[in-house]
Amino acid sequence: MGETFLPGAHWTTERVAAAREAMIALRDSPEMQTLMRTVAEATDSGHDPASMAAAMSGVIADGRVTTPVRREACLVRRGRRGDEAGLTRLIVEGNLPPFFIEPFIDGFLVVEHEGDIVGCGCAEMYEDSSVIRSVVVSSQARGLGIGLEIARLLEDDARLSGARHLYLFTIEAWRFWLRLGYVDISIDSWQVPARENWQFQFISQFPEAVKEVHVMGKLA
Ligand SMILES: CC(C)(COP(=O)(O)OP(=O)(O)OC[C@H]1O[C@@H](n2cnc3c(N)ncnc32)[C@H](O)[C@@H]1OP(=O)(O)O)[C@@H](O)C(=O)NCCC(=O)NCCS
Repeated sequence: MGETFLPGAHWTTERVAAAREAMIALRDSPEMQTLMRTVAEATDSGHDPASMAAAMSGVIADGRVTTPVRREACLVRRGRRGDEAGLTRLIVEGNLPPFFIEPFIDGFLVVEHEGDIVGCGCAEMYEDSSVIRSVVVSSQARGLGIGLEIARLLEDDARLSGARHLYLFTIEAWRFWLRLGYVDISIDSWQVPARENWQFQFISQFPEAVKEVHVMGKLA
């Protein structure tokens, strides 16, 4: 894969602070609070949280990439304005909640194949901790090692940006992360700055909504 994603090159102190501030403003907005409560209530009555979240954000997982993906034709780059729709589609395809893309857009890792976004992920920075989120590879591109490469680049990005602790939440990809050395941890063991993370807040507020979620972590 061609690379223009330089780990550690994005997260300056100013960018970390700006992304955190934008994330908190969105997280605490009345609209988002209502959406989160609705997702939690719907999940209590048996729907899975990712599809509820996707449905409520008005996204349908159409526009999937259907052409075969060749790894050598993929380019890895930073996200930029204009990627939001492609990232949302891919994250929904991965059964993950397509939220809080905007505040972190230029910190995202994007894998592009012939103009389509076929892979993504982001290492959100919280002082000496990072929350790895939205790691998805399009179904046409799975099994080529792209997921592992995304994970490793995000880990490098976090480490080189000052992270000592790496955290993530997962339901379906638990074994994938085990293989990368993550272990199940208690949510109570998180470093304080990382607790601002929107997923952390949702899961702490509505633990019943996400019973199957694994909270994982490792040292960077
Ligand atoms: C998890 C995911 C990103 C892996 O992408 P990928 O490009 O297919 O992964 P790779 O080709 O790098 O696979 C690496 C290894 O992990 C394994 N693996 C891949 N996905 C896995 C999964 N969901 N569970 C367990 N193992 C998995 C592969 O079999 C492979 O092992 P092998 O080399 O022994 O065969 C992809 O399956 C995906 O997008 N899943 C849906 C979204 C999701 O759950 N993301 C994680 C959110 S925290």
